[in-house]
Amino acid sequence: MSKRKLKDDISRDCISKVQRLLRERFFCQSPNGKLFGTKLQHRDLLELLKRTALHGESNSVLIIGPRGSGKTLLTHHILKRLTEDKQIRDNILQVHLNGLLQTNDKIALKEITRQLNLENVVGDKVFGSFAENLTFLLEALKRGDRAHSCPVLFILDEFDLFVHHKNQTLLYNLFDIAQSAQAPIGVVGMTCRLDILELMEKRVKSRFSHRQIYLMNSFDFKKYLNICKEQLSLPPEFPEKKFSQKWNKNIQSFLEDKKVQDVLQNQFHYNKDLRSVSMLLMFALSSITVSHPYITVSDLLEASRLCRMDSRANIIHGLSVLEFCLIIAMKHLNDIYEGEPFNFQMVYNEYQKFVQRKAHTVYNFEKPVVMKAFEHLQHLELIKPVEGSSMSTQREYLFMKLLLDNSQIMDALQVYPNCPTDVKQWAMSSIN
Ligand SMILES: Nc1ncnc2c1ncn2[C@@H]1O[C@H](COP(=O)(O)OP(=O)(O)OP(=O)(O)O)[C@@H](O)[C@H]1O
Ligand SMILES: [Mg+2]
Repeated sequence: MSKRKLKDDISRDCISKVQRLLRERFFCQSPNGKLFGTKLQHRDLLELLKRTALHGESNSVLIIGPRGSGKTLLTHHILKRLTEDKQIRDNILQVHLNGLLQTNDKIALKEITRQLNLENVVGDKVFGSFAENLTFLLEALKRGDRAHSCPVLFILDEFDLFVHHKNQTLLYNLFDIAQSAQAPIGVVGMTCRLDILELMEKRVKSRFSHRQIYLMNSFDFKKYLNICKEQLSLPPEFPEKKFSQKWNKNIQSFLEDKKVQDVLQNQFHYNKDLRSVSMLLMFALSSITVSHPYITVSDLLEASRLCRMDSRANIIHGLSVLEFCLIIAMKHLNDIYEGEPFNFQMVYNEYQKFVQRKAHTVYNFEKPVVMKAFEHLQHLELIKPVEGSSMSTQREYLFMKLLLDNSQIMDALQVYPNCPTDVKQWAMSSIN
């Protein structure tokens, strides 16, 4: 085997190791990853849950923060820390619920039963009320006296969705049990709604301990850059020492580049959360290959372009000229009637006016063909029927709304391939 081939093999292996490591770091909510800027919150929550796990103290707490601020990640970290302790691991049960999955209390109760492995115990029993059922489940976990009851941690992700359940029964019962210390339970809710307390019914709110932990991404740009650096750097234990040294050096100079800082600053001002910057960096990292082993400024610029791409404007590029003409007709209708809904007939008339003016260059399609194009736009969700419009109305007269704004249409027009000049001019004219 030639020397060159051997060298390539090493770097290929090395590159796949780098990609695996960074992908895991960015995308898996692995509790082994780093947590930034949540030291105090981590300490408070760990302390609280430890008290439940070790002393059977009932607690309830809400973790509140915007999307992507690390609520789920923080909870995973804490649970990992908790279960590292053997005494706690053997002494605690966890129930994970998610407001997006358990959409009513019946489903939630079924899931609780399943996660606690109590399906056999419950069997065909019929319960009078939700509370009776939940109490039965918790009773079933008791080992002799109360002091030896097994603490249960209820982790409720997307907590705000549980308040829409009928009478907020699940929340009421969980908080009631926690407050009255009937059984040792810890309730941890995660939500991005800052007004979550207002959403709770009075009787639920009064049973909640009012402990709240906020995650607010409260770091400045310097810290933000440091986080990017840490996330992109390879750890000292990376097997290919020489490569990792070079990689880390490259990251250092990469982040010092003015253009890189501009992109990151833009991202920072647009959205401070670490999830979006992870996405941006991951896009940039995906261009790493054996022949292009170090991340460059242009990778990040391309990634930023991809992240900011407007998906609707992209759809327009794939439309036929007729469909594009209809979009322009709708744009003109929107300008004339100031955003009032339109129907097919109005769009068709508008289109006809244009075709008659330019009869020598634009092909006049028959009405059913135009209708088909119109329906295609609806399938692509570029237009949609106005809410409340009756389905019995004839197709031609159903009121619709355009889901694109003028700037999106005009931007798409610039890059629309082979757009006939007349159509272009028609789109740009303010009076048609
Ligand atoms: N403090 C942090 N430290 C490290 N990474 C973070 C932090 N906060 C967010 N992230 C990154 O953002 C991703 C999303 O975080 P997470 O899913 O915990 O957010 P969330 O607050 O639960 O969002 P949502 O409200 O959408 O559920 C994580 O996988 C992680 O990569
Ligand atoms: Mg989450």
